Amino acid sequence: MKSQISRRDWFKSSAALTAGLTLTPALINNLFAGPVSKAERADRFEWGINPYSANGNVRLNANENPYGPSEKARKAIVDNMSEGNRYPFQALTDLKKMVAEKEGVDVDHIHMGAGSGEILCEAGVAFGLNNGEILSGFPTFTEMMDYAEVFNAKWDKVNVNDKFEFDYSAMASRINSKTKLIFICNPNNPTGTLVDPSIVSGFCEEVSKKVPVYSDEAYLEFLEPEMQKKVSNIEMVRQGKNVVVSRTFSKIYGLAGLRIGYIVAKPDLIKKISQYQMGIPISQHAIAAAKASLGDEDFMKLSRTKNAEARAHLEGYLKKKGYNFGKSHTNFMFYNAPIDGKTILSKMRQKNILMRIWDYKDKEWCRVSIGTLEEMKQFTAAFDEVVA
Ligand SMILES: Cc1ncc(COP(=O)(O)O)c(C=O)c1O
Repeated sequence: MKSQISRRDWFKSSAALTAGLTLTPALINNLFAGPVSKAERADRFEWGINPYSANGNVRLNANENPYGPSEKARKAIVDNMSEGNRYPFQALTDLKKMVAEKEGVDVDHIHMGAGSGEILCEAGVAFGLNNGEILSGFPTFTEMMDYAEVFNAKWDKVNVNDKFEFDYSAMASRINSKTKLIFICNPNNPTGTLVDPSIVSGFCEEVSKKVPVYSDEAYLEFLEPEMQKKVSNIEMVRQGKNVVVSRTFSKIYGLAGLRIGYIVAKPDLIKKISQYQMGIPISQHAIAAAKASLGDEDFMKLSRTKNAEARAHLEGYLKKKGYNFGKSHTNFMFYNAPIDGKTILSKMRQKNILMRIWDYKDKEWCRVSIGTLEEMKQFTAAFDEVVA
């Protein structure tokens, strides 16, 4: 925990000096909960805001699904209310069986958590302890590596290429004797880009002989079903390879607030990761909603279709205005910020629209989640005024 304390102390003094503000522990924790850019830090200090507060805002900052939970999930939660006094042992066992069947593996290949993020953290500890190194592309979803760093792990990053895609050959040549885990994300957050599945599977096939690969597939279901089959690394797990596949109910299923996700891996990897889970984190209601949602093709199709339509609106706008962006296959887009990020955040918020700013290669980048078509129209009109 030594590095955690020193990092926080360093942060406390440097940020307080810049912002001239009193930092409460809650505020510091909030700032450490994810990758926070300079613009976001400044913005939060200045306004003392919770960047995720609802308050009637158009929330395009957390890659949530505006259509969820599905009707089936809502009904399941209500029907399950009376089970709220019972621990969810049996319910979880039942759900694990359903997931195992869907993924074509035995139930000992499944581990579930309160969101896939919880399991990312467990894996970060499992492989990052004792100065372990975790290798990933960058920018990417950092929850695993951020958490692992608290336990003295080292995070080795390889920048994405100029199409904003993970550079798998550069990553392969970066592996060294200290590399304990490789984190990949396809399609990737925050860039939204998808790498050709043959490149990714070739990479996994080779490197997993030396180091386990953690394949985050949080946004897989935004691809058309045929493409999902090609892109997912689940077949490698079925073949007994050193690969962990991570999935969530937060995105296509629209259950982000209920907190439930899972990994699929060989039993030895499941054991190594799951030993760091704290207590019984998944609620009866999350399980009920997940059971009702799993494999709900109609709802997934609705989310996928509406998302693609709304994303096309944003993509058309970005193209017309000449922004630099990678092709998104997800429910968010990533592009260059045309004016300073802090101004974008605060002016957009004055128009009740929330979004993210990322730092990458000494530049600022916008990451905008895809809401409803109406929300995206509101977004492009507002953004146009703000950056004019
Ligand atoms: C790539 C990726 N993985 C995992 C997560 C964690 O999601 P959850 O903890 O809600 O399952 C997210 C959330 O945004 C994500 O973008």
